[in-house]
Order: sequence, then C-alpha cells, then structure tokens
Amino acid sequence: MKVAIIGQGYVGLTISAFAGEFYDVVGFDNNSKIVDQLNKGFSHIEGVEGPTLQKWIKAGRYRATNNSSEISDADLVVIAVPTPLTNNRKPDLGFIEAACKTVGENIKKPVLVINESTSFPGTLRNYIKPAIEKYSKNVVEHLYAISPERVDPGRVDFNQKNTPRLYAGLTAEASAKTREFYSKFCDELVEVSSPEVAEAAKLFENTFRQVNIALVNEFAQIAHSLGISVYETLDAANTKPYGFMKFTPSAGVGGHCIPVDPTYLAAVAEENGAPATFIRRANEVNLEMSEYIVNRVQADNDGSLQGKSILVVGVAYKPNVADVRETAAELVIEHLRDRGAIVSWHDEVVGKWRGESSAPLSGAEIAVVVTKHDDVKVRDILDSAPYVFDTTGKVPGAKGL
Ligand SMILES: NC(=O)c1ccc[n+]([C@@H]2O[C@H](COP(=O)([O-])OP(=O)(O)OC[C@H]3O[C@@H](n4cnc5c(N)ncnc54)[C@H](O)[C@@H]3O)[C@@H](O)[C@H]2O)c1
Repeated sequence: MKVAIIGQGYVGLTISAFAGEFYDVVGFDNNSKIVDQLNKGFSHIEGVEGPTLQKWIKAGRYRATNNSSEISDADLVVIAVPTPLTNNRKPDLGFIEAACKTVGENIKKPVLVINESTSFPGTLRNYIKPAIEKYSKNVVEHLYAISPERVDPGRVDFNQKNTPRLYAGLTAEASAKTREFYSKFCDELVEVSSPEVAEAAKLFENTFRQVNIALVNEFAQIAHSLGISVYETLDAANTKPYGFMKFTPSAGVGGHCIPVDPTYLAAVAEENGAPATFIRRANEVNLEMSEYIVNRVQADNDGSLQGKSILVVGVAYKPNVADVRETAAELVIEHLRDRGAIVSWHDEVVGKWRGESSAPLSGAEIAVVVTKHDDVKVRDILDSAPYVFDTTGKVPGAKGL
C-alpha cells in the first residue's frame, strides 16, 4: 500500500518514520529544503532518527517530494499541516485548504483521507471533505477520517506505538480502514462515535493543560506574596493519591499546541454562543507571566534594568528540543529590552534564532532561566552571573518563582 503524508514536520515525519516499516511512504512537503535534507536521510525533527529514514530510503519505502504529482498513485493520504492562528487570533485553515487542493487535484481514484492536523470539531466534515471534492471537481468519492495526533516531540516514554490513538471516520468503512492502517504501528486504537468527538477531545486535552498551567502560574504569584515556596506547596499537595495532578509554574506556554489549540475551541464555542471564559483567562495569565518575572527580576536589582547585561538561558519552548514556536522567551526578552536591558541569550540546542546566535553561558550581570535543557549544567548557570532568576524550578541555589 502506498501512503502519501502531506506535511513532513513534527507530526508528518514522525508518522512517516513509523509507517515506513509497513508501507511505501511518500512524504509531500512544499518546503524544498526540507525535502532535499530528508532524501539525504537527515531528520530535522527530534525523535525521528536519520538512520531510520536512511533504512526506509534504502529499502525503497520512503521518499520525500515537493512534486504533488508523486502522490497521485497513493492508496491512503494523511494530512499533517500546520493549523495556526491568524493575526487576529482566529483559526487559520489556509494550510489545510492548500493540502486539500493538492489531494483534490492529484488523486483521481477513491482513497482514504485521514486528517491528523489539530482543528475544531466539524473540520473534517464541513471543510476538508467539501474542499477536496471542490478541487477534484467531484470526480471521485473518497473516504474520510480523523485521527488527532498526540506526539510530544522529544518525549521518550510515550511514542506512536504506546500512546493510545483516537479515531473516527465519516462512514463505518472509513473507520475500519483507519483502524487497519494504524494498527500496524499503534498498540491501542480507540474509536469514538463521530469525527467531531475526536476533534473536540484533542482540543480539550490541550485546553486542560493550558488552564492548569495558568492556574499554577497564578498560584506561584500567590505563594510568593505569602512568602511560601510554590514548589514545596505543590509537592505537599501532590502527596494526595487521588484528585490532584501536579503542574509546575513557568515563564508561560509555548509550542504549536498549548498556546494555539484552546483558541480553536474558544472560536467554535463563540460561534455557537457558548462561553469559553477559562480559555480566555488562561491565555491572559500565561501571557502575563513574562512580565511578572521581569518585574521580580527588576525588583531584586535595585528597581532598574537600564543598561544591565542580561542573559536569557534557554529560548526553546521546552527542554531538549530546538522548537522556538510561540516560546515564552520571546516575551521575556521583549520586556527586558523595553526596560533598557542589554539582552543576549544562550541556547546551544536552538543555535540561531531571529537573526541572533547563542551567546556563551557566562559574563552577564543577570541570568534569567526560561528553559533548562538537560545537558546545561546547574553549576554553569549559577556561574554565568552574580544574580540568577530561575523560572523552571531546576536550578537550586538561584532566585526563582
Ligand atoms: N508538534 C506537535 O507536537 C503536534 C502534536 C500534535 C498535533 N499537532 C498538530 O499537527 C499539525 C502539524 O503540526 P506540526 O507540528 O507537524 O507542524 P510543522 O510546522 O512541524 O510541519 C508542518 C509541515 O507542513 C509543511 N506544509 C505546510 N503547508 C503544506 C502544504 N500545503 N503541503 C505540503 N506541506 C505543507 C511545512 O513545510 C512543514 O514542513 C498541526 O495541526 C498541529 O497542531 C502538532
């Protein structure tokens, strides 16, 4: 069976690497640099190893392409393209639309189309199916299903194989074929009664995280005002064996999912006249954390950051990945610069970002730790500046939340 995977980013390439063991995979991506690298066997995604790709390439079971005609003989299509927000923070289905155009214009026999991109309930039924039909001029009737992706890049304990996967087809036949496809490389498949339930479950999972992160971020501020340790308090609460789940405070949320997906749910709620007050407030609290942190740093440093050299340690949105999408470090740096600080950043995993390069981990007046990668030593962080403020809870001996 030939599988075409549209989008070779975090989600699409991860699926390609697992599917390559069982299927002939063509990875379609409109970024030619990514395509060239992939065909040389280099992976740009944490968790997908170059040697795995090389193995499938050598066996003739994987090829990347930016030539859309190469997907025309596929038997199954997976859509894994970005679903960001527009400038006015509304769902942007532009990439989905473009992927539908590629499928509609190139595939002229009935296939199963599975969407893995995160979007609001109704996307498969009301956007993807009609768009593909429009672009294929209704010459072919495909099967459609959704199986939202749960991959957590960089995570080693849970992967495609042992993370249960939700799915639902628009028809029973689509559901059955979806199950068959994933069952080769996923241990537990959970069918739900409609695509809308699967789409909503994915959004609710990330909204749960977003709201709980905001709650603990607000609680960190309360704990500080009470003169108690937020970490000790959370550890104490976490001794309760039921009804509590520990989240830890941070400089805010980042990545493609947590800052974005809840807004997809809020948008569809608004359209239906239902309140989404928690989502809105959680967004605000998480965005305000960067300013709260800068206020704390300023208060500890004679009330002024003017002219001070400040090193932000870790700019990736989470440890051990190079992903800087929506990273909280961006807002922290902005606030520091607004107050006249001379800011550089250290992150060897990211290397280059926004036209700047990672600076040495030394020689600053102030260091603010936003993300701590495992291979950055606590001792080196503490030695990098006479005053260190840690937002991660991983640098004992530093000031912090
Ligand atoms: N990154 C995650 O951890 C994660 C987890 C679960 C779900 N998701 C969801 O999966 C979807 C994809 O996210 P991602 O992180 O893989 O994005 P990504 O940016 O890493 O990758 C997307 C890829 O799609 C390509 N692309 C864009 N438009 C295209 C088109 N029209 N045709 C072909 N290729 C195209 C881009 O060049 C890019 O390589 C999103 O909806 C996201 O919310 C992401």
